[in-house]
Amino acid sequence: MSNRTFTMIKPDAMKNGHAGAILDRIIKEGFRVVSLKLTKLSKEKAGEFYAVHKERPFYGELVDFMSSGVIIAAILEKDNAVNAFRTLIGATNPAQAEAGTIRKLFATSIGENAVHGSDSDENAAIEGSFFFSGLEQF
Ligand code: CMP
Repeated sequence: MSNRTFTMIKPDAMKNGHAGAILDRIIKEGFRVVSLKLTKLSKEKAGEFYAVHKERPFYGELVDFMSSGVIIAAILEKDNAVNAFRTLIGATNPAQAEAGTIRKLFATSIGENAVHGSDSDENAAIEGSFFFSGLEQF
């Protein structure tokens, strides 16, 4: 069990003005920010990041959406970080997310769901290094 996870605040939450509230909530829940940047994915980079979903029917829509505006990418640290963060953000589909979770509060739909959270320790490490070099991880 690793103590790090990776997150993105997605273009919908950025455009809707929720980035500050989301970061505040993450920090208040006890996550330490290891790395953080505001950036924008090209279509090519978004496709690469989500390559595991290439065969899914929503892949094209996902790539278009994730490259449609700026995002905030961050590596976060807490005990049992991957699971703790997934609990904090709630189900992928905000309609099914628990009350009080970040997606319940800020997401609009299953595709435009405000935040990403890594689903395993292995993917957290891969996704974190997609955006941050070793020198950018504090
Ligand atoms: P995320 O946790 O970033 O990982 C994959 C993303 O695919 C997921 O969040 C959703 O935003 C998106 N996704 C999953 N299922 C669907 C769907 N049925 N339609 C559109 N997007 C989806």
